[in-house]
Order: sequence, then structure tokens, then C-alpha cells
Amino acid sequence: MSALTVDAVWKEYGDQIVLEKISIDIESRAFVALVGPSGCGKTTFLRMLLGEERPTRGQILIDGVALPSEPGPDRGVVFQRYSVFQHLTVLGNVLLGKELVASRYCGRLFGYARKAAIAEARAMLNEVGLSQAEDKYPAQLSGGMQQRLALAQALVMKPRVLLLDEPFGALDPGTRAEIHSLMKRLWHENPMTVVMVTHDMREAFALATRVVAFERRRDRPEERLRYGATITRDIPIWPPRRAGQSSLIRPDRDGPALNGR
Ligand SMILES: Nc1ncnc2c1ncn2[C@@H]1O[C@H](COP(=O)(O)OP(=O)(O)O)[C@@H](O)[C@H]1O
Ligand SMILES: [Mg+2]
Repeated sequence: MSALTVDAVWKEYGDQIVLEKISIDIESRAFVALVGPSGCGKTTFLRMLLGEERPTRGQILIDGVALPSEPGPDRGVVFQRYSVFQHLTVLGNVLLGKELVASRYCGRLFGYARKAAIAEARAMLNEVGLSQAEDKYPAQLSGGMQQRLALAQALVMKPRVLLLDEPFGALDPGTRAEIHSLMKRLWHENPMTVVMVTHDMREAFALATRVVAFERRRDRPEERLRYGATITRDIPIWPPRRAGQSSLIRPDRDGPALNGR
């Protein structure tokens, strides 16, 4: 069964059509890189998958069930910046999600439950290479370390779907290369489906099993409000396509590929 089904989704803000007729099935365990020009609705799409925004039309299913109308622990998210809380320590940041879930029932974590949560948080920090930094505050960490912390914070909740919005976009190339190998390892080790927005094509092709492009088919200034972006390319990366197998672009649903543009 596919992890995420996006079925003819439109998103409009007032008179502005941002996304139109987005249909995509994302199989469980896929790593989808989402690319497209600035302002074409990539963040809006992620926010709909997160449950922060509702589609104007169409529906989104997660494992065949309508997406809950608000964010939940089954969907983790990491933004380019500001994913971690500056007033909490590294360990506090990773524990926060667990405490918030517990607080719905009893206020906070106590006794055995708290010990277990701390052990899990420490194991997660170890996975992202931040064991030595658990008492530090985010301001004391480099950009790369903050993003590793943001990944740990999301992954400790064992999300079924991890949403990444240009998570490595602000990092220098060396740090980015390191975090790419970490990201690959985390995706292999944790049973989750990833949707990552990126500006960086090399990053998209290095990490993803599938690269999907959003674009407006008509983009003259006077047409901007009336035409939203939609899927214009859908490129399978891994497993490699067999010779002779046709492209996954489905002109009936996704429109023509914009070859040669
Ligand atoms: N909450 C909102 N209210 C009104 N317009 C919005 C809102 N969020 C996004 N938009 C508009 O939707 C369009 C797509 O934005 P966004 O999803 O952030 O694009 P991207 O992430 O691809 O750069 C932009 O024109 C933006 O101004
Ligand atoms: Mg964006």
C-alpha cells in the first residue's frame, strides 16, 4: 500500500491558485525530493502533508486513511531553520516531543517512563553524533549540528512520514556532504517515508529514490493567479528503471513533461 496518496489536490489562497490538480502516490519507504522554482507551492504542499493546511479541493490519505486535520507524531518535520527550541538544551529538545505526548495524559513524564524517554533520546543523539553536546543550547552549536539536532528531534518520535523543507540549504558544502551521508543512514535505519524539498539538484539526485518537479505550466505575470503549479516531472532514481520501461510521467494525470524547456 502506498504511504501517501495525494488525490487531485488544489490549494487556493483567496483568488490565488497556488497548486492545481496534484495527484501522486508515494510508496512506503520512498525518499521523494521535491524541486521547483521559488514560490511555486512546495512549502504549502509540505504543510498540507503535515496537516497544518487543508487542501481547497481533493484529498490526502496516509496509509489509506484521510490525513488527520492537525499535525501529529506520525509526521515529523525539519525546516531550513528554526526547527529547534533555543531555550531548551540539546537533550531537552529531543525529549520535548515525548513529553508533549505524555502531557496529554498526565502533565509530564515521571519515573520509569521518563528514564526510558531519556535513554531513547540519548540513543538518538548518539545516532546523529551529538552525544557530547547533550547539555549545550542550540546557540552553542554550528548550523550543521543544529540540523542534526532537528533530525534527532523529529526521528525520536518514530514518524511514518518525515517532511524536510530545504533542511540543508543553509549549510556550507562540506557540512552538507556530511549530513547527506547521515541522512541516508537515518533513512535506511528508520522505517519512514521521506518527502524533502530542495533547491539543490545534486542533493535531490544524491538522496532521493524519486525526484518530482512542481512547475506552473503558464507563468506569465498576468496568469500567475489563475494557474497553480502542478507536477511536471516525476523521475524514478532508485531502484533503477529497466531498459525499455516507460517514463513515469502520466500525461493523462500529470500533463506533458516539459522536455526541452
Ligand atoms: N498562508 C498563506 N496565505 C496566503 N498566501 C500564501 C500562504 N502561504 C503561502 N502563500 C502563497 O503561496 C505561494 C507558494 O508559497 P510557498 O509554498 O511558500 O512556495 P515555495 O515553498 O515553493 O517557495 C506564494 O505565492 C505564497 O505567497
Ligand atoms: Mg518554501
